[in-house]
Amino acid sequence: RAMAILREFEENCGTPIGKLGQVADAMTVEMHAGLASEGGSKLKMLISYVDNLPSGEENGLFYALDLGGTNFRVIRVLLGGRDGGVVKQEFEEVSIPPHLMTGSSDALFDYIATALANFVATEGEGLHPSPGKQRELGFTFSFPVRQTSISSGNLIKWTKGFSIDDTVGEDVVGELTKAMERVGLDMRVSALVNDTIGTLAGGRYYNPDVIAAVILGTGTNAAYVERAQAIPKWHGLLPKSGEMVINMEWGNFRSSHLPLTEYDQDLDVESLNPGEQIFEKIISGMYLGEIVRRVLLKMAEEAAFFGDTVPPKLKIPFILRTPHMSAMHHDESSDLRVVGSKLKDILEISHTSLKMRKAIVELCDIVATRGARLSAAGIVGIIKKLGRDAVKDGEKQKSVIAMDGGLYEHYSKFSTCMESTLKELLGEEVSDNVVIKLSNDGSGIGAALLAASHSQYLEVEE
Ligand code: BG6
Ligand code: GLC
Repeated sequence: RAMAILREFEENCGTPIGKLGQVADAMTVEMHAGLASEGGSKLKMLISYVDNLPSGEENGLFYALDLGGTNFRVIRVLLGGRDGGVVKQEFEEVSIPPHLMTGSSDALFDYIATALANFVATEGEGLHPSPGKQRELGFTFSFPVRQTSISSGNLIKWTKGFSIDDTVGEDVVGELTKAMERVGLDMRVSALVNDTIGTLAGGRYYNPDVIAAVILGTGTNAAYVERAQAIPKWHGLLPKSGEMVINMEWGNFRSSHLPLTEYDQDLDVESLNPGEQIFEKIISGMYLGEIVRRVLLKMAEEAAFFGDTVPPKLKIPFILRTPHMSAMHHDESSDLRVVGSKLKDILEISHTSLKMRKAIVELCDIVATRGARLSAAGIVGIIKKLGRDAVKDGEKQKSVIAMDGGLYEHYSKFSTCMESTLKELLGEEVSDNVVIKLSNDGSGIGAALLAASHSQYLEVEE
């Protein structure tokens, strides 16, 4: 009986290549729709106001603040201009107490501003701003924001584990600036960016072939460089570069081609944001372990998978995190010792047979494989939108995708599957020219670089 539940789930999670092709095509179609008009698609295709990616000329001392991943980070970067590169980089990681993720806006921003003020107080030798100059900050805020300029924008909605009503609709730079004033920190936000935009900027600084960035972490999202002419909803001046970086917010993508199961539907209904972020809920790190828990719970309740009683811990939402799932999935021991110890430590299930542990590894594999293959399809959607899905006149055009996020970085079966699926979808010849490059914490550096290129102290060019 329990195995029948598992088999049925496997069947409903299927991602044959034909289906992935349809998902990729649907992604391309939605990208066009989202660029055509505001509200034209589930894909918001947000305009970032970044029309110039780092050139290498950036120089000076800049701060960055990175909110929205597993950890909150404060960063100090000394940029050396052409030939100088990143001269020095320091950072501190602080975790956000969970109650602040669902509390009040002021409480969250006060916490962040305080952490930033404490970090500023540790400025060492040679790491001060020049006398009379205000410190400047790039703010990486990894949520959907409708930007009104490079340094301002209103929160559209929270995603992932955050839900704070009084921030929605507000200018998040205004919120941060008020909090900095409350804690007595004199600093100006010169750039507000999504983590995908920061990662793209950081990636481009080191590699001119970077054309897009993807985050596979707590949440998932992508950004890429679009031709300004291809954005009908943009009514501003055409940027000199002719380009504009777009934050897709692909976590909110949905399509009838997505293989969704009853477990996904229940997870969605009971989530902080029902009906939203459907793609994210079947791909990203916040949810994969939770899907596994839901299937196990059903196997326990309806088929006594763990014996006559349902293990009480198994009923607790989000108790099984994706890192636990990953550890079980990567268990190479012949008796699946790691699976046994995770079940014991996390779910307080002490007796399992090897056969049961094997079934659990299989379950992890089904969930991870679906997520990995769908994320590859998403990337192919972007490659197609950019017309880089074919080799033209034998010309080898490199497309580098800067990647960040704990899921990609730490869950190797996930990343390996994602990359092999990408090859499968693009074919040998094209995929030789599509490179995924891990850009660890690129988004912090990227935000600092964008703060530098939008500094109030730059001499205005004629
Ligand atoms: C970090 C970026 O490296 O990756 C963050 O700087 C981003 O901005 C994060 O949100 C995503 O990873 P995770 O796994 O922490 O959600
Ligand atoms: C969520 C956010 C998005 C972010 C992504 C990755 O999808 O809405 O803005 O880029 O997570 O952190």
